[in-house]
Amino acid sequence: MSHPLPQTKNLKPRVLVGVGGGIAAYKVCEVVSQLFKTGVEVRVILTRSAQEFITPLTLATLSRHSAYTDDLFWQANHSRPLHIDLGEWADLLVIAPMTANTLAKLACGMADNLLTNTVLASTCPVLLAPAMNTDMWEQLAVQRNWQHLLTDSRFHGMGTASGLLACDRVGNGRMAEPQEILAYIQSLLHTKGQRDLLGKQVLISAGGTREYLDPVRFIGNPATGKMGLALAQAALHRGANVTLVHGVTNWDAPLGVQAIPVINAEEMQQVMWEYLPSADVIVMSAAVADVKPQDYSPEKLPKRSLPTALPLEPVPDILASLAQLKQPHQRLIGFAAQTGDIITPALEKLQRKKLDVIVANPIDQPDSGFGSDNNQAIFLDNQGRHEKVPPCSKLQMAHHLYDFVISNLS
Ligand code: CTP
Repeated sequence: MSHPLPQTKNLKPRVLVGVGGGIAAYKVCEVVSQLFKTGVEVRVILTRSAQEFITPLTLATLSRHSAYTDDLFWQANHSRPLHIDLGEWADLLVIAPMTANTLAKLACGMADNLLTNTVLASTCPVLLAPAMNTDMWEQLAVQRNWQHLLTDSRFHGMGTASGLLACDRVGNGRMAEPQEILAYIQSLLHTKGQRDLLGKQVLISAGGTREYLDPVRFIGNPATGKMGLALAQAALHRGANVTLVHGVTNWDAPLGVQAIPVINAEEMQQVMWEYLPSADVIVMSAAVADVKPQDYSPEKLPKRSLPTALPLEPVPDILASLAQLKQPHQRLIGFAAQTGDIITPALEKLQRKKLDVIVANPIDQPDSGFGSDNNQAIFLDNQGRHEKVPPCSKLQMAHHLYDFVISNLS
């Protein structure tokens, strides 16, 4: 019997998921399911110990294709060696959860099962999502293997999270969440594993600011920070060191990103100023509330004391202030969320705020703008160049923006 792998490339990206033996294997079901739903061709390899946690049938059902195990690998009736076929087939390999055992084998180039043989028989990027008990993860030998493996640029390592572990301890070693793994996969399929922001510092503002009238009432806007989150993920996945200054949001910052929460425009400006000198690329995607109440009451105001007209005063224009402070090598990018004609006001802001690039994005189109997972935009730069990006996910939009900035400005 020959194994049924397609021999000709079609347009769908091909992701091969290698599942290791850890309880986090159950989360990989969600990754595989989502990959299939988003039009990715998925194949799955389970190590022998992974099968103690989930079954090949589970992953075969979710990926709509037989799952591969060592039993199949050692059968002598393939037309070509299975690990060679799988290695050649994949555009991207994902190992999740990656155990200490698989890590140790990969770090020294060992191949004693289908998964490790396939890693050696392939040349595509490999995304690694480790998961283990804190003491295991922090062992010198494990950390040495991890650092050593990551010296090979083919391997992209995800961080581990802190939280309640299966051993009932609270500590570091949890696998990244499925949504974070899925975002990294989307990034690597876009970049093909290139790290064109390696060593760069990327400073991003995200979400909406709030200007409080009293402890419970504020002036704000519906920004959720999803675009800023996507910008942080994309920069991180392209090798950058990322600082994300964000207003109130309902998401966790990606593992490996320095996240700094702020509330109002003045706080955001202070933090942006602090991190500006070391930044190479600055992206101001935050929706800054333009005004604040003139007076703040530290006690909650009773309803009867609320003013019928609220005296307001402007908050600082953070982006314009960054343009005054920035060095010529630094790239400053602003956003212009507009209704109706998006280009004229965006061009005006590009010039008035002395930006390198502005992202004009319509907020009156379906499935675009505040709170949406998707976006569409026109990028305009100070050299008169522009690029229209049709509706796509915010992560794809972020990658298009970095492509534009890197190709047009560096
Ligand atoms: N911005 C900022 N500080 C402000 C207001 C806006 O840094 N106080 C930034 C936003 O983060 C965005 C860009 O400036 O990157 C454009 O924001 P926008 O609200 O569209 O521009 P405004 O200058 O506020 O112009 P208007 O509201 O009149 O359209």
